[in-house]
Amino acid sequence: MKDKIPVIAKVCVMGWPIAHSRSPLIHNFWIRQLGIKNAIYERLAVPPEELQETVKSLVDWGFIGANVTVPHKEAVFACLMRHDAIARRLKAVNTIVLTEAGLEGRNTDGYGFMANLFHAAPNWKANRGPAVMLGAGGAARAIATALDDAGAPEIRIVNRTHSRAETLIRDLGLKNAAVFSWEQIDRAFVNANLLVNTTTLGMKGERDLEIDLTPLPATALVTDIVYTPLETGLLRAARLRGLTTVDGLGMLLHQAVPGFEAWFGKRPQVSAELRALVLADMGITEGKS
Ligand code: ATR
Repeated sequence: MKDKIPVIAKVCVMGWPIAHSRSPLIHNFWIRQLGIKNAIYERLAVPPEELQETVKSLVDWGFIGANVTVPHKEAVFACLMRHDAIARRLKAVNTIVLTEAGLEGRNTDGYGFMANLFHAAPNWKANRGPAVMLGAGGAARAIATALDDAGAPEIRIVNRTHSRAETLIRDLGLKNAAVFSWEQIDRAFVNANLLVNTTTLGMKGERDLEIDLTPLPATALVTDIVYTPLETGLLRAARLRGLTTVDGLGMLLHQAVPGFEAWFGKRPQVSAELRALVLADMGITEGKS
């Protein structure tokens, strides 16, 4: 009888709050599309005071992995004994994988960021010039590391709090990085190859970034990790200036790929169909954002 009981592969996304996470939509789409049997991907609302106990109990509860979102990425890093090299460098975890040695913390945010640019703007290359990054928070850490690894010759960080950007550079061991104030942004734009917004400015309900993009070279790529709205004020201004733009939704979709592959053994695709599904959930029909 016992061998007739199906083995269920359970994965969750942990956050607080978690109700609006689109990770279940993405992973359950791939589970169905790739015909993965007896797999479940669910939301787990985890308040900060229950995080440590929850991580400890994941395996007992039958989970083979998890995603980790706001505000738990740093705290989960501290809860786990094993990490991959990128999570160790960032001291933050967005993906947990049950390996033969136990639970391992990984971080795929930087991968998701680069993969999005690679797919949406295949002619752009990181090594062609300095990258300008707005913000120095958790997302900025993953992105700066990914750009550094991809060969960006210089990373220019524009941040309100100077010391926070300095700490980021020191923690990540970035060799060629500089901090600029918002007032100095024109200088940061000289010869820039990329402009990325990692702050929450431009998100629905927040004020828009109002930046004069005139000093950016015509070859610069502009991207935003904010994807609600899909075309932020920054992306709109860049498009109107004739610059190539990449929206932030692709980062969310691509960061999910390595986790899915590690849990279920099949590499999923970020397709137009998946993108349309997530956009529909956001109430957007492509081209009408
Ligand atoms: P996350 O971890 O999701 O990246 P975060 O840690 O809250 O988010 O970081 C938010 C980033 O947006 C920071 O760089 C923050 O600047 P400070 O380091 O000076 O706080 C930036 N940010 C948020 N609100 C801002 C505002 N109104 N003006 C300028 N920068 C802002």
